[in-house]
Amino acid sequence: MNICVTGGAGFIGSHLVDKLIEQGHTVLVIDNLSTGCREFVNPKAQFVEMDIRDSELLTVLAKFKPEYVFHEAAQTMVPVSMHDPAFDCDVNLMGLINVLNTCYKINVKKIIMPSSAAVYGDLDTLPLTEAMVGHPSSFYGLTKLTTESYLRLYYEAFGLPYICFRYANVYGPRQGNGGEGGVISIFCERLQKQQDITIFGDGEQTRDFVYVDDVVAANLNALEVPDLVGVINVSTEVSTSLNELVAQFKNIVGHDFVVHYESERAGDIKHSLLSTKKMMAELNYSPKINLTTGLANTYHYFDSKL
Ligand code: UD1
Repeated sequence: MNICVTGGAGFIGSHLVDKLIEQGHTVLVIDNLSTGCREFVNPKAQFVEMDIRDSELLTVLAKFKPEYVFHEAAQTMVPVSMHDPAFDCDVNLMGLINVLNTCYKINVKKIIMPSSAAVYGDLDTLPLTEAMVGHPSSFYGLTKLTTESYLRLYYEAFGLPYICFRYANVYGPRQGNGGEGGVISIFCERLQKQQDITIFGDGEQTRDFVYVDDVVAANLNALEVPDLVGVINVSTEVSTSLNELVAQFKNIVGHDFVVHYESERAGDIKHSLLSTKKMMAELNYSPKINLTTGLANTYHYFDSKL
């Protein structure tokens, strides 16, 4: 099949492209390389350097005629959204609208894209299920929640089917180039360079860390269920505090390191744990990589970069 991946030079997008190529698909990557890396783009993929807000997107996709579009290009950083809500909104909503208009004009079968655990905000009842009403605590969470509503309306008003994944905290090789660093990639990079690490808050905040290969596998399974439309968590339903994460790093790193504690980051949520029930039932997928294995793989990837 012809498949377009926006953000295919980025962390999650580039892994997805590799698997799609492995499965024999013809893949077009659209990426403006603002945080993505040209070297991450599979050499067998077609590549167009373009911003998702560019009006020429329609011309490019009309020519390529994708059956499916994976829209992975986004502003992904909570702190960036707090410093510059307009930029976050421009990329994540105006960019989205351009992609959606393009998809329905050229009759794409389905758009598959990420939302985020950030849409839930600080809800008390864990694990978080898709039916819960989110109350985002960051502008990033807000644009992702609004994304879900845009997808629903493009489906209801214009008949464009969609699957929207609420990713938990995704980690793995290739994270952290440009602006896409998550706590695990930041810690890996600093520890590889024998530098100290910093925890924002008391370290008792918890996250649901999901390895990138599991996220890619969930995306691929979405191609197998043509009638499925809606919002689905992609997570492990395993809760890990940052202090526990540091303890795991101590087992892997092989040298002593210093951990500084600083004040909490604006917009951060305290606990994030996402139910896997719907993912298992409707996508027939459950995560395969636990944190110990995933962390070791990721740490050694950063090792090989030095
Ligand atoms: C992450 C994702 C976001 C995703 C969301 C889902 C990244 C960059 N962001 O946001 O795209 O939608 O999960 O929940 O992956 N921290 C430290 N020290 C550091 C860096 C971070 O203590 O050096 C802390 C943060 O303050 C936060 C936690 O680690 O409490 C996780 O932060 P981060 O990895 O940036 O992810 P989220 O903000 O949860």
